[in-house]
Amino acid sequence: MPFPKRVFSGIQPSGDLHLGNYLGAIKRFVPLQDEFDCIYCVVDMHAITVWQEPEDLKRRTYEVAAAYLAAGLDPKKSIIFNQSQVAEHAELAWVFNCVARMGWMARMTQFKDKAGKNSENVSLGLFAYPSLMAADILLYKTTHVPVGEDQKQHLELTRDIAAKFNHDFSASIAARGHDGDYFPITEPVITGPATRVMSLRDGTKKMSKSDSSSEMATIYLMDDADAITKKIKKAKTDPEPLPSEAKGLEARPEAANLVGIYAALADTTIDAVLSQYGGQGFGVFKPALAELAVSVLGPQAAEMRRLVADPGEIEAVLRDGADRARVLAEKNMAEIRDIVGFVR
Ligand code: AMP
Ligand code: TRP
Repeated sequence: MPFPKRVFSGIQPSGDLHLGNYLGAIKRFVPLQDEFDCIYCVVDMHAITVWQEPEDLKRRTYEVAAAYLAAGLDPKKSIIFNQSQVAEHAELAWVFNCVARMGWMARMTQFKDKAGKNSENVSLGLFAYPSLMAADILLYKTTHVPVGEDQKQHLELTRDIAAKFNHDFSASIAARGHDGDYFPITEPVITGPATRVMSLRDGTKKMSKSDSSSEMATIYLMDDADAITKKIKKAKTDPEPLPSEAKGLEARPEAANLVGIYAALADTTIDAVLSQYGGQGFGVFKPALAELAVSVLGPQAAEMRRLVADPGEIEAVLRDGADRARVLAEKNMAEIRDIVGFVR
């Protein structure tokens, strides 16, 4: 029997949200609500894999939830909650820690990047993190996960964990009357012109929450119009005019990044942007991009500020979302305990 379609995605409340999070993830969550049953999570348990000041963690949890709502996620259509309110995420992650292999985890490039030369001294949670991510996804038998390009490897690992669980426990799964596999093999949804937004100062580096190289490299969702405009006008570029076809962007990472950002913000394609701006220089393109970015992000930043100023509304959304998520999680986790052989 095919698995019913379900979407799950999550964002960590671990730093200030930026344009990469918006274009690579949040913006793409919105239209999926009309097509699928969607669950959007603020993954606070992932955030503590590196140190978070407790008060900052709370504030940022509200900010991610506010960004979801401001972008157009509708708590009536989608389940919106924070991970730590549904204990089954941690419980299933433990089971998956015992399914996943050390070698699989050791290959994760994000762990290697984050741990750097310091790998003896980072938390055990940071190493096990992909197993918690697999639990988030599979706890709800999720079939589709919209994310940015950087999460591809973690989703492949999620598929490996699902397949190994289905295989290792196949007899127990069948004995409990389940028809075929227990977990779906989840599809990543990595689409559109901005699945990897790059730093405005270096077109070969990903835009990230933790870019300390320069505050000009990152557009934050809470930036005001002046900051957005200044950052775009000062963005690194080359002296050539824009090409009229996408092929002409190949060896021009900074130009490619700005065109991709424009296309994503305007809900169009890179080819369409180039057919309008091909042959023009950045003196024309950058002000147009700045104006577009301010018109899209400005109203959302205002709504985020309104929501976080009085978090009662966000708290109610998260509590209600957690109650709805917990119903699904409890049902599946009871089956998983039984499949594994835990006495109840
Ligand atoms: P994180 O900030 O790591 O919690 O990421 C949240 C979501 O934003 C994930 O789906 C990431 O893939 C996505 N994301 C983060 N940085 C970027 C970026 N520079 N470009 C596109 N997507 C991104
Ligand atoms: N690891 C993701 C990131 O850093 C966040 C995340 C946690 C996630 N659990 C998830 C994304 C489940 C999609 C689905 O961006």
